[in-house]
Amino acid sequence: MLQRRALLACLCVPFVALGIKTREQKRALPDAICVQIAKVISSASEVFYPGDPLYEKGIFHYAISSTQQSKCVVEAGSTADIGKILGILGRTRTPFAVKGGGHAMNPDFSSTPDVHISMYRFSEIKYNATSQTADIGAGLIWDDVYAALEPLGVNVVGGRVTGIGVAGFTLGGGYSWKTNQYGLAVDNVVAFELVRADGQVVIVTHTSDPELFFGLKGGQNNFGIVVKFTLKTFPQTQVWGGTIVNLGSAIPDVKAATATFQTSATDPKAAIIIAYNYVAASQQVIASQLLFYDAPTPPPGIFDDFLAIPSIQSDISTRSFLSLVQSSPVNASAGTRGLYEGVSILALTPGLSDVLLNETMFWGAALGDKSEIMLSYDIELFLPSIYSHNPDKTAFPPVRNIPFQPFNIAFTWNSSEFDPDFHNAVVASSAQIRKAALAEGQTQLVHAPNYPNYAVAGTPLEDMYGVNLPALRALKARVDPNNVMGLAGGWKF
Ligand SMILES: Cc1cc2nc3c(=O)[nH]c(=O)nc-3n(C[C@H](O)[C@H](O)[C@H](O)COP(=O)(O)OP(=O)(O)OC[C@H]3O[C@@H](n4cnc5c(N)ncnc54)[C@H](O)[C@@H]3O)c2cc1C
Ligand SMILES: *[C@@H]1O[C@H](CO)[C@@H](O)[C@H](O)[C@H]1NC(C)=O
Ligand SMILES: *[C@@H]1O[C@H](CO)[C@@H](O)[C@H](O)[C@H]1NC(C)=O
Ligand SMILES: *[C@@H]1O[C@H](CO)[C@@H](O)[C@H](O)[C@H]1NC(C)=O
Ligand SMILES: *[C@@H]1O[C@H](CO)[C@@H](O)[C@H](O)[C@H]1NC(C)=O
Repeated sequence: MLQRRALLACLCVPFVALGIKTREQKRALPDAICVQIAKVISSASEVFYPGDPLYEKGIFHYAISSTQQSKCVVEAGSTADIGKILGILGRTRTPFAVKGGGHAMNPDFSSTPDVHISMYRFSEIKYNATSQTADIGAGLIWDDVYAALEPLGVNVVGGRVTGIGVAGFTLGGGYSWKTNQYGLAVDNVVAFELVRADGQVVIVTHTSDPELFFGLKGGQNNFGIVVKFTLKTFPQTQVWGGTIVNLGSAIPDVKAATATFQTSATDPKAAIIIAYNYVAASQQVIASQLLFYDAPTPPPGIFDDFLAIPSIQSDISTRSFLSLVQSSPVNASAGTRGLYEGVSILALTPGLSDVLLNETMFWGAALGDKSEIMLSYDIELFLPSIYSHNPDKTAFPPVRNIPFQPFNIAFTWNSSEFDPDFHNAVVASSAQIRKAALAEGQTQLVHAPNYPNYAVAGTPLEDMYGVNLPALRALKARVDPNNVMGLAGGWKF
């Protein structure tokens, strides 16, 4: 690869010098900003161009609709290099992207037609038994973290399914299987190592800069590039759970079991995600249940109703945390086009459950002819105490006295032709669900935020960051006065 890049440079420079540029050769010319970056970085970092497997790896996203062809991929490998890279991007006002695990469902949030920065090289995992914390590199996915911590008998508050990045998850909020016990990912960060847009490398903690510490807990990429998270660790045994799939005929039973679980389960080690899915291939709605208990065996009773429902597929077992995370069927949608949208709800009443089912069938029928679709309405039920695990303020959630649940709409499809239809559909469907929840008397939802890691592009910042927005805007002006991070996509303060 090195040889080929060297050759590329040799071929191109003389043509530029002579002013002769045929079409072919023009295409082979590396972008001037990329060349400038390649010149200033140390050997810790590297720049890759189209055609290189590491370029393809760099731009890759879980949803193909979030993958964009960039001018180059920069695999950053040191904080000093990131400072230099941000310096060039800022001075030349070049749009760029920063990618962790590439699970953003909104195009442009971690993808760009210009300069793409991938964080893979920040892959440290260091456990400190004295402080019971772990230093975690910002380029990792949770699978790597769980695998490394498992032999040590500890774990962190991270993603629930395979492939999710540590960085985007933690910088946006982070709802985990362990959230009922310990809160969100943002509630369990002890320190961030941040490269600011001006190149300063700062360790941000509760005491070093309380305001920036607050801002990074939900404020995503607004303040710079995070290279390392120091997270609290907790003891981890084997866990119990897995995925069950039920046919549409069993949905009344799933609905009833979910209602009972919501009103009677108080054990913070138990967590579920129930989904109604429209499968175009068979034109039917099926249910899937992801069940979790944070011990090798759940106490009797908690999951009995779910387990009694006739299923077409079940892989419930006692297993490692990693095995549970990797058992979810979510990877089946990898490589399709996709969009997520969040709607916060307070409770899943039987009435609201019917609304969700109707939405699943309505949009299934409305969009069913638009190529290989799969629509999923994902109900995540947490205990009312989930926002009580952190006395500190965090950018997200802006309110902690309303026990809202982060309901998720996930649509996937296969043809770019239909992108606008699906965008309009998730927006209309979330509005319908919210309207129904409010009509049912869940009036506190007026003040409940939408989760930034689920919200579809176009969601007003006020809807996610609420009362925190003025403070976040002031912080942004202080930390990044030239708005260099504004050149990267995402929610922008
Ligand atoms: C299949 C699937 C399952 C999911 N499950 C859950 C779940 O269980 N719980 C939950 O809370 N959320 C979940 N999500 C949402 C998830 O938290 C977000 O998609 C999150 O942004 C993913 O992080 P990432 O690093 O993979 O994303 P990326 O696309 O890499 O990045 C997302 C955002 O973070 C920014 N960013 C990335 N790295 C850095 C960095 N080092 N410094 C500064 N900014 C950075 C990017 O610029 C971008 O704006 C899920 C998403 C998917 C697609
Ligand atoms: C581990 O944490 C303790 C307590 O905070 C600290 O004194 C020590 O230096 C840390 N060790 C390492 C190797 O970082
Ligand atoms: C999920 O898909 C990704 C991308 O194709 C792949 O690298 C990964 O191994 C898959 N994970 C599991 C658990 O199957
Ligand atoms: C089903 O959902 C559609 C779309 O949101 C809505 O127009 C319709 O009124 C709903 N039907 C029922 C019976 O609620
Ligand atoms: C997706 O669409 C492409 C054409 O746009 C087609 O070639 C391919 O077979 C489709 N894949 C699936 C799984 O439908």
